[in-house]
Amino acid sequence: MKQIQIIIKTLSVSLAVLTVTCCEPKHYEVAGGVQPKDIIPAPVEYSVQSGSIGTDELTNLPEKVRISESAVRRRLKGRKLEDWQLRSAYWLKIGKKGVKIEAADQEGVFYARQSLKMLASLDSSVACCTILDWPRFRHRGILLDESRHFQGKDFVKKQMEMMALLKMNRFHFHLVDNPGWRLQIDSYLRLTQLTAWRPEAEFWDWEVDEIGGEFVEEGTPGAYGGYYTKQDIAEILAFADERHIEVIPEIEMPGHNYETRAAYPELACSLPESEMSDRWELCPGKEGTYDFLEKVLLEVFELFPSDYIHIGGDEAGKRNWERCPDCQARMKAEGLESVEELQSYMIRRMERFAHEHGKRIIGWDEILEGGLAPDATVMSWHGTEGGLQAIAEGHDVIFTPTHYYYLDYHQDPNQYRAAGRYVPLEKVYSFDPMEEGITEADAHHVLGVQGNLWTEHVREAWHAEMMLYPRAFAIAETGWSPSTRKDYPNFERRVSAFSEVARTMGYNVYRRP
Ligand code: ACM
Ligand code: ZN
Repeated sequence: MKQIQIIIKTLSVSLAVLTVTCCEPKHYEVAGGVQPKDIIPAPVEYSVQSGSIGTDELTNLPEKVRISESAVRRRLKGRKLEDWQLRSAYWLKIGKKGVKIEAADQEGVFYARQSLKMLASLDSSVACCTILDWPRFRHRGILLDESRHFQGKDFVKKQMEMMALLKMNRFHFHLVDNPGWRLQIDSYLRLTQLTAWRPEAEFWDWEVDEIGGEFVEEGTPGAYGGYYTKQDIAEILAFADERHIEVIPEIEMPGHNYETRAAYPELACSLPESEMSDRWELCPGKEGTYDFLEKVLLEVFELFPSDYIHIGGDEAGKRNWERCPDCQARMKAEGLESVEELQSYMIRRMERFAHEHGKRIIGWDEILEGGLAPDATVMSWHGTEGGLQAIAEGHDVIFTPTHYYYLDYHQDPNQYRAAGRYVPLEKVYSFDPMEEGITEADAHHVLGVQGNLWTEHVREAWHAEMMLYPRAFAIAETGWSPSTRKDYPNFERRVSAFSEVARTMGYNVYRRP
């Protein structure tokens, strides 16, 4: 990060993917071409000089890159950034004779090029201009639920390409859940030989009244499903890494494990079938459950370089635990007074295991029940209360509140297949975690924001994209831009223009009425 490099090259490579979109449609009547104020997310600071450059010309201009922390600090004129902000910060100058980028790290160079790409995509000429920019939050994420319906790696890479353009940097990979396990685990092959496949393609044909259906053997004619091999994951991780996107895998425990129980029934509580109430849960009493989870996690840790593992923790039914002899024995041995404490015992124990392997855990806000594991990061999804409680207890938080950031909710009353609540673009844009009463002293606990695309209602790729876009544009701006730059009418204008560009790039961006 400290070393100084000067690289001169042409822009033809970095702009190649977008040149097809540059000439039409033309939304900008502004004399002198598209300006920094037109991009998403809005940059921190910019100025516009006289003159403009045609996008074709820009493609062939020399690009001069300087990687120097002190150069960026000089541009910042005494403003203090956190180290993670400094790594992403960039100064970009587009002039008639060429493009100059200064950054403290390759990450900043990457974001400068994303700004350049977005500018060049929006019209056939770009104003001569200067941008100084850095992110507001370190976690700017998207969750994709691959369990309910499975899209596969080409879809994931395509969305990562868009995330990069929006300067989003965390991909939360929801790989396992009741209706399908989507990750090769060599120690437990039944997870993918059996429970990556089901007879019904439609989630709602498979799950009725919260009771899941059956799974079928891999290779069964007509079976719906799929999973990622370790080779697939390596390919996705390399693609993500080139775009400065960290992939955070989620391995659910103790709830949302209907599929795991179908593959390995011994991981359920020790109750006769007729007395089983909850169908999704692992038994936190049995030692075998921990053997299973540790072996799975070891393979996950080996595959994914992220410092974080998401361990789920949400919506676990606890009725079986009240009656299961293994759970009761565990509670007695560990002095646990409630089934909530039993869940907390499991999460704390898995956190210790994660720490032994250099990883930190993230969990949904239910991990607060029964006592939070000492170093856990909380993903606040039931509104913001869980996040605020976690911050009060000194923990880091990522905000993904259902009413604002659940991208399975519909965008207009007539929308094709969506979950019930109404979450239009303006609602998504209106959320700001710092308006929830968090003090300056606690601000560092707010890691950032994330939109979650759950896929109960979303089977096709075109439908998934329509749920993601343009709402992800709003999350990107809240995650990156200073709150003082947020302005919905202005954002809406930029969304209209960039949505057209994204469509020409092949994304199915929802058309608002
Ligand atoms: C969740 O929506 N169950 C995290
Ligand atoms: Zn049990």
